[in-house]
Amino acid sequence: MSRKITGATLVAGVAGAPVRHSLSPPIHNAWIEAAGIDAVYVPFAPRGDNFPRFADGLRGGAIRGLNVTVPFKEAALSVSDEVSERATLAGAVNLLIFNEDGSTTGDNTDGLGLLAAFAAQAPDYDPKSGPVVIVGAGGAARGAAAAFVLAGAPEVRIVNRTLAKAELVATALGPPVSGCGLDDAARAFTDAAAVINATSAGLVGEALDLPLEATPASAIIMDMTYKPLETQLLARARTLQRRTVDGLEMLVRQAVPSFEAFFGQAPPTAVDVRGLCLSVLGPAA
Ligand code: ATR
Repeated sequence: MSRKITGATLVAGVAGAPVRHSLSPPIHNAWIEAAGIDAVYVPFAPRGDNFPRFADGLRGGAIRGLNVTVPFKEAALSVSDEVSERATLAGAVNLLIFNEDGSTTGDNTDGLGLLAAFAAQAPDYDPKSGPVVIVGAGGAARGAAAAFVLAGAPEVRIVNRTLAKAELVATALGPPVSGCGLDDAARAFTDAAAVINATSAGLVGEALDLPLEATPASAIIMDMTYKPLETQLLARARTLQRRTVDGLEMLVRQAVPSFEAFFGQAPPTAVDVRGLCLSVLGPAA
């Protein structure tokens, strides 16, 4: 990178563990460079139990803000003095802004990214049009459920291998969210407008055999996993001629409101961040 770091350089970053493979530094630095902002976006990997102390040390203007990723999103919520409604519903903060007065503001842009990915790759989809099924009941699933509740989905069904966890998310969010086990997936799929995989199965190389054939022909299938870009689930959805939305689009889109919050301007549209991410991910993508 040929950019000069000066005494006036603004700093933002991402905190995660591991953070080494995060795509956020290449995305934000490409935007910073194209916009000609005197800023830098850096990775941080605080020790697992050290996040609150790490974040407290940044209060008061040391840094503009942080994106927060696994496993710190819940800890970031707990160090936020002010929390947006969407972050409260999601139960997680992925954007932590450090205000000059020493306070912190927690927000969550994952849901915005998810909805923007649908808008980009399935433009005529309306979240209000029918039930949304989310597979998984971890933090990613809860965040997705919160986004669709706020977007006015008439029903959000959490389908999870462990029924009790699906029910916990449903209880935390309340109606229109309900929970069921994977055995009931076909039933949950029959009138679904959209089905979203928010499990970590693909991340650890496990197959997720969902009854996609039970979905209506109009259903849109989305996979939050983006490695590979065309997951087994998306490939099967295409074979069944269902429209699809991929996880990389969500990742790229959630970065946009973060950049705006850090630097007070929209990222330059001329940068092909999707292409950039694909080149960082390599041929396996
Ligand atoms: P995150 O915070 O990223 O969402 P998480 O909290 O570990 O991650 O949640 C992972 C989710 O993926 C869980 O809902 C998990 O199901 P269980 O609650 O039954 O553990 C789901 N998951 C992971 N591997 C899976 C697999 N092979 N098949 C089905 N669900 C799986």
